[in-house]
Amino acid sequence: MPFTEELVVACRRQFPALSRRVGEHAAVYFDGPAGTQVPQRVIEAISDYLAHHNANHGGVFHSSRESDVVLDRAHQAAADLLGASDPDEVYFGANMTSLTFALSRALAQNWKQGDEIIVTRLDHDANVTPWVLAAKDAGAEVKYVDIDPADCTLNQSDFRAKLSDRTKLVAIGCASNSVGSINPLAEMTKLAQEQGALVFADAVHYAPHARIDVQAWGVDFLACSAYKFFGPHVGILWGKRSLLESVTPYKLRPAPNNLPGRWMTGTQNHECIAGVLAAIDYLADIGRILANDDSLSRPAALDGAMQGIREYEQELVTELVAQLEQIADIKVWGITDASRFDERLPTVSITHARRTPEEIAIALDEQGIFVWHGNYYALQLTETLGLEPDGMVRIGLTHYNTPEEVKRLISALRHL
Ligand SMILES: Cc1ncc(COP(=O)(O)O)c(C=O)c1O
Repeated sequence: MPFTEELVVACRRQFPALSRRVGEHAAVYFDGPAGTQVPQRVIEAISDYLAHHNANHGGVFHSSRESDVVLDRAHQAAADLLGASDPDEVYFGANMTSLTFALSRALAQNWKQGDEIIVTRLDHDANVTPWVLAAKDAGAEVKYVDIDPADCTLNQSDFRAKLSDRTKLVAIGCASNSVGSINPLAEMTKLAQEQGALVFADAVHYAPHARIDVQAWGVDFLACSAYKFFGPHVGILWGKRSLLESVTPYKLRPAPNNLPGRWMTGTQNHECIAGVLAAIDYLADIGRILANDDSLSRPAALDGAMQGIREYEQELVTELVAQLEQIADIKVWGITDASRFDERLPTVSITHARRTPEEIAIALDEQGIFVWHGNYYALQLTETLGLEPDGMVRIGLTHYNTPEEVKRLISALRHL
């Protein structure tokens, strides 16, 4: 079964926020890249945890044991979402940024003067600055992979030129949270590992749009954030068992030394981790509906769900970009050639010849259309494109958006 309008309606019905109104307008949420809305079952999972299973980790009494069952199920669900075979290789934390700061500190204990790391000018700063600061403390050198400004993709020859046997770590985004470009992660990972470097992938922007597969991609670490894929505010990090066991984390003395506990700093946000489990099951259920098979395993269901979502979003973004390109004052940044849309996600950044991004975001909000403006922390990119300090306007589509919402946006932009 394809991802039909009927299925979109059924999905939308599950999200209380999507029935919001702004004055006379139905609200349109195009702010997904900054955080998606959540289905009712996520809200219920969080309150159910707090009402019935609220306890600290590792006790021998009923509520603590129940709480640990929820946490274990969440580790398994997150492993399924990321294509990992071992639930203990997945750990939770406050958000991707905090997890990346902690991991970068830990890895940098093994870096020294003369070592190099590689970051990119396409990434969110959470996949740049933690590595830059860790390298600075270790005396290692930082190399930046440039972008091709014409289509906002990573310049692969620049990457190859900067990679060497001195490279200790390469930090790459799966896709840009600003212009949607998808990076050839598996190829870049292979090249980096041939030089002995570790690869850290930032899948925060990618996760709600397409299937993540840590094993097929071969990366060493991968981070994402549940609030970008219909869950609550929790960060998720996956790493290869051998690395998570051999690298020394900054941890408290009585904290566990085994996986995943040795990387989970302090008491976790258990209620929201229960919500992460519900968000992943929401996605898996889309796959079961698409396959018309309630018994589909979660990994197989997630395969189908993400493929269906990707195809639906590709149709939406194709229409969006085609319509935007017809508005004379608007420039669309990134890949605009529809024959290359398998290289991008449905996240579109624009600028306007006469209006600032902030003015556009305010004008759209008056019509109930929510978009982000500025640099969305992809600061290297806006600096490279000469778009600071105003940045761009970001229209972030997700599977709960509709062709009618895209039409409303285009009409509002035409009448600016
Ligand atoms: C691509 C990307 N990476 C990292 C982050 C930071 O994630 P978090 O808010 O979980 O720290 C974001 C947040 O917008 C993002 O879009």
